[in-house]
Amino acid sequence: MFIPAREVACSTSAPVRQSLAHAEACRADDVVLTGDRPTGALHLGHFAGSLATRLALQGRCMQTLLIADLQALTDASGRAAQVAAHVEEVALDYLAAGIDPALTTIAVQSRLPALAELTVLYLNLVTVARLERNPTVKAEIELRGFARDIPAGFLCYPVSQAADITGFRATLVPVGDDQLPMIEQTNEIVRHLNRLAGAPGDAPVLTECRALLSATPRLPGVDGRKASKSLGNAVPLGASADDLRRLVHAMYTDPGHARASDPGRVEGNVVFAYLDAFDADLAAVEELKARYRRGGLGDAPVKRRLVDVLEQLIAPMRARRAALANDRAYVRNVLREGIARADDVTRRVLRVVRRAFALGE
Ligand code: TRP
Repeated sequence: MFIPAREVACSTSAPVRQSLAHAEACRADDVVLTGDRPTGALHLGHFAGSLATRLALQGRCMQTLLIADLQALTDASGRAAQVAAHVEEVALDYLAAGIDPALTTIAVQSRLPALAELTVLYLNLVTVARLERNPTVKAEIELRGFARDIPAGFLCYPVSQAADITGFRATLVPVGDDQLPMIEQTNEIVRHLNRLAGAPGDAPVLTECRALLSATPRLPGVDGRKASKSLGNAVPLGASADDLRRLVHAMYTDPGHARASDPGRVEGNVVFAYLDAFDADLAAVEELKARYRRGGLGDAPVKRRLVDVLEQLIAPMRARRAALANDRAYVRNVLREGIARADDVTRRVLRVVRRAFALGE
C-alpha cells in the first residue's frame, strides 16, 4: 500500500508553507540530514520544529532522516525495549506526515556500523572539557538530574551526532535552535580532521555543514512547560479527534482572564502560540489577539478555532497512519531499503576517514 505524498493535505499546511519560503536557502546540490530520537511518538513540536522543513525540502535535494536509536540509549539504557519499539513508530509518523521514501531515505542509526566506527575515531579529536561545555548537553544533564552520574555515552553523544552528519556528507541540517551547539561541535571535528589529514591546500576530507533553523519558535507543551513525552503535555501527530479536543481544552491561557469581558494576555498563552504556528490566516489571528487583549473574547471560541486548524492538519496524517499501521510489512521494507542505501553511503565516508587515521581498508 502506498499513498503518494502529494495526496497528503498537510503538505500545504501553514508551517510547511512558511518552511517552503525558508527552504529557498537550500541548493540543489545540498545534502540534508536530520534525526530524531525514538523515545516516543512524534508531536506537533517536531512538526513545527523540523518535520515541516523536511517536507518542504523533499524532492529539492538529497535528504536522509535518521532514527537515532543509539542516541536515545545514551540516556535511556534502562528503557531499551521502548526505544526499540519506537523505531518503527517514528518511521510511521514520518510516512504519515508525507515523507515519501522515493524522495527521502529513512534509516536507523544502530543499523549503520560505519557511524559507530566514525564516532570512535572522532572521540580522539575532542576533549572532555569541550564536551562538558556543550550548552545543550549541560542543560539536559541538569534536567535529567544526572549530577555526577553522567553516562559517558551521554556526554559523548554530540560526537556521535557529528558522525551522523558527516557520515552522510550532509551540508544542511534542519534543526531547532537547541541543536546549534551540535552543529558547531561537528564543524570543529571536521576542521580538526581536515588539518590532521592533509597538507594545507589539499582537498578537505570532509566539508562543514550549516544549520537550517525552523521558521517557528519552539512550541510549549499544553501546560506552558517544555513539551515532553514524560509530562504527557505534547500533542502527538497521531492524536485522535477526542484527544486533540481534550489537549486543546487543557491548554494554559491567561489565569487573569477569568471572564470573557476581562482583557487577556496573548504572551505566554499556549493557544495563541499554537495559532501562530499553525493557522495560515495570519490576519485573522492578529484580529483575534487584538480582541482578546481588549477584553470581550473568551477562551472557548479561540480554542474552538485552534481545534479546527489542528484537526485539518492532523486528520490526513491520522488516516494515513491508520492505513500504514495495518501494513507493517511495507514500513519494514521502507526501513530495509533506506538502511541499505545509507549503509553504502556511510561506509564510503568511513573509508576516507580511516585513511586520515592511517588505518587500512
Ligand atoms: N539530537 C537530535 C534531537 O535530540 C537528534 C539527532 C540525532 C540529530 N542525530 C542527528 C539531529 C543528526 C540532526 C542531525 O532531536
